[in-house]
Amino acid sequence: MAIQQIVQIVEENIRAEAKHGSAHRDVHFKAHGCVKAEFRVLPLPDAMQIGIFAEARTYPAWVRYSNGSGKVQDDSIGDGRGMAIKLMGIESSQSGTQDFVMINHPVFFVRNATDYIEFQKAVSQDALSKFFFPSFNPLNFRLHELAIAFAIRSRKVDNPLDIQYWSATPYRFGDTAMKFSVRPCGKPIDAFVDTSSPNFLRENMQKHLTNGDACFDFMVQLRTHPLEMPIEDPTIEWSEKDSPFIPAAKITISSQAFNTPEQLKFCEDFSFTPWHAALDHQPLGGINRVRKAVYETSSRIRHELNGIERREPVGF
Ligand code: HEM
Repeated sequence: MAIQQIVQIVEENIRAEAKHGSAHRDVHFKAHGCVKAEFRVLPLPDAMQIGIFAEARTYPAWVRYSNGSGKVQDDSIGDGRGMAIKLMGIESSQSGTQDFVMINHPVFFVRNATDYIEFQKAVSQDALSKFFFPSFNPLNFRLHELAIAFAIRSRKVDNPLDIQYWSATPYRFGDTAMKFSVRPCGKPIDAFVDTSSPNFLRENMQKHLTNGDACFDFMVQLRTHPLEMPIEDPTIEWSEKDSPFIPAAKITISSQAFNTPEQLKFCEDFSFTPWHAALDHQPLGGINRVRKAVYETSSRIRHELNGIERREPVGF
């Protein structure tokens, strides 16, 4: 079965990497940092008072920023950038947490589990072009996926606190479905954008947070046109004309010092997954079904190899 095959490859990769030192995430390896945040649900119309948005209250949260690659590489290399938010104190979630896992692009570049296996194979052979051009038959070319992958890798990012992130895949919103996104509040900040060091993303984040707070609007996009807003294909963007993103919460990251060896280590031991979710926000679609087993295995294996207990945080 496709999911089992993906899980097995992820496990093999983590075990192989760990022979050179400690065990790490199979992808999104390099963290720019983990920061403490506050997630304040806004007063919302009745129809949107679902799950964690049921009441206007504030949740404490951890946020991890990362590069997409499975290697630690210079931040000047084109790559997806991740933002993973973990709300704590969520009673209707088995883990007690609600994770919102996002990248800095509205869509993902793989449609389903079967395609993901081909992607993994191409990566392991160091021949990514085989995924996009699997044969000489142009009917098999994955040009739509290639365009998305190219767009993700070409986005220029100077500071992880200054860009928008998207869920790309759908989630339940009570009886309907949503995608979500976070966008920096206010105008873009032009300061702290020096790109000369290999870790400039972490350094610019720290300069920003030494100087003041950062803030994001958390927004929800409801599935209003089922035919044009597929659940099973995360390479298709849900049109904002059909259904605009609606602000549902405000995220505040207060000025803080996170760039310390202790906090970076602490950050590595977190486990984010779309499946840490309240009942009303369970993940939907095939790619999210793959992620259930994959993230669980990736987290379990790296914690086992590092001799660290897996625990969901309950506070700061
Ligand atoms: C079949 C598709 C996917 C696979 C196999 C996959 C695999 C993984 C794995 C193995 C991890 C590390 C988990 C851990 O050890 O804790 C991870 C983390 C991550 N993934 Fe995915 N992923 C997939 C799809 C996606 C999508 C669609 C997004 C877009 C939102 C995404 C965004 C992220 C982010 C941001 C992280 C880092 C979370 C953190 O900071 O710990 N992934 N992924």
